[in-house]
Amino acid sequence: MTTIKNICCIGAGYVGGPTMAIIAQKCPDIKVTVVDINEKRIAAWNDEDVNKIPIYEPGLSEIVKEAKGRNLFFSTDVDSAIDNAEMIFISVNTPTKTYGMGKGMAADLKYIELCARQIARVAKNDKIVVEKSTLPVRTAQALKDILENTGNGVDFQILSNPEFLAEGTAVEDLNNPDRVLIGGDIDTAEGKKAVQSLVDIYSNWVPAEHILTTNIWSSELSKLTANAFLAQRVSSINAMSELCEKTGANVNEVAKAVGMDSRIGSKFLQSSVGFGGSCFQKDILNLVYIAKSFGLNEVADFWEQVIILNDHQKRRFAANIVKTLFNTVSGKKITILGWAFKKDTNDTRESAAIYVSDYLLNEQAEIVVYDPKVTAEQIYADLDYLGTRPDSENRSLVKVVNTAEEACKDSHAVAVLTEWDEFKELDWKKIYDDMLKPAFLFDGRRLLDRKTKEELGFEFYAIGS
Ligand code: UDX
Ligand code: UDX
Repeated sequence: MTTIKNICCIGAGYVGGPTMAIIAQKCPDIKVTVVDINEKRIAAWNDEDVNKIPIYEPGLSEIVKEAKGRNLFFSTDVDSAIDNAEMIFISVNTPTKTYGMGKGMAADLKYIELCARQIARVAKNDKIVVEKSTLPVRTAQALKDILENTGNGVDFQILSNPEFLAEGTAVEDLNNPDRVLIGGDIDTAEGKKAVQSLVDIYSNWVPAEHILTTNIWSSELSKLTANAFLAQRVSSINAMSELCEKTGANVNEVAKAVGMDSRIGSKFLQSSVGFGGSCFQKDILNLVYIAKSFGLNEVADFWEQVIILNDHQKRRFAANIVKTLFNTVSGKKITILGWAFKKDTNDTRESAAIYVSDYLLNEQAEIVVYDPKVTAEQIYADLDYLGTRPDSENRSLVKVVNTAEEACKDSHAVAVLTEWDEFKELDWKKIYDDMLKPAFLFDGRRLLDRKTKEELGFEFYAIGS
């Protein structure tokens, strides 16, 4: 049995950072080095003040504080971390391709390939390479081909160990995972040994019955499938939200009634302005691409509909604002409360707020944004990335402020796009008093209580009723 003493993780992002911090905390005998080509990011992880770590996750800074410098290290020296490690996790990003074959659909694996080539170049002794990033099924084969054909004759075992943590609850998800999935070459003795060495690491805190081992292809595909199922539930309830609005039904009541059926279950039935995050859309597009590449058009169409509905939900929410404000928002001030793709994270990737704001900007609205954790720099970068208008226009039309009250002052309408708890506790009376009348309030998260807001005088609209 291989006992792992040194782990290296390439990619110090939302996945690599928290995952390695927990492994280091739970396994004080293993030295964990997280490397990244982004010097700024590594510097932030290494900041004396642990509250300055680059990722906001409840409970994470305390864990980093405990383990950093003891057996958890952050560095930009990728080569020596690879050289010293018996096990290397790959947690680099795999964005949707923005060019060439598979553009807008397939995962761009160039960073994965670069990692593989670097590992092959540096490695002098046997290594276990673990895919942590979500990857298209059969990526392990590509990794193997690169490692074996460019390596120095060392043996590489490839494992798939997909991450199921959700942002905002990463620490809790890592501490008490529903399951840990480990895929490997279980038909060979060497493969079995590699799988076991990763099982041993997780066994330090995860009960054996929650550690599942499979062949590598099942593991890769299970990750895509899990995300597709979760996203599908959100699109299913969001499809119903539109029907609820037409029929007088209330989507929360429908979700509750449906979710009490134990065969269906109550989770992931919260209607919203649309799901965001770095994974759902990317992974489904990826699944659609893979299905199409095998000629499975019906399978591809089935899953693509989840994305189509999600885009529709964001668009119809924005369109409803325009329609309700007497068919024009030109020159009107609209407040966006919440920019992150969900509460308790500073991550904005694919956040509905970006698309709703872009739609409103196209209608010549002036936007004021407040989010408790997202920086102005990030908000402008998100809008600039869409390339809809010159960057300078985004800066003149969008203002980012430091409090919700300031954001709502003198505005025609307020839209709640992230379910931050603090939005429930705002002084809504003062906000109402300071707004132009009629004062419109659009709740894209069903976060606020309708009755009290209507009593204050708001024209209240919540998605799904
Ligand atoms: C990413 C993917 O989005 C997700 O699909 C996958 O499951 C895990 O990796 P995340 O950790 O959220 O998730 O990405 P990100 O926060 O962008 O972190 C990736 C890091 O890898 C970045 O800090 C980037 O600088 C680093 N990187 C990228 C390298 O160190 N080397 C590279 O060659 C490419
Ligand atoms: C997801 C998966 O949950 C996780 O297992 C995987 O590893 C990465 O992708 P994440 O994207 O961090 O995690 O957050 P998640 O809680 O799944 O939410 C995704 C999006 O769906 C968010 O925008 C959220 O607001 C939205 N959502 C979620 C809803 O609109 N309604 C729901 O009921 C649940």
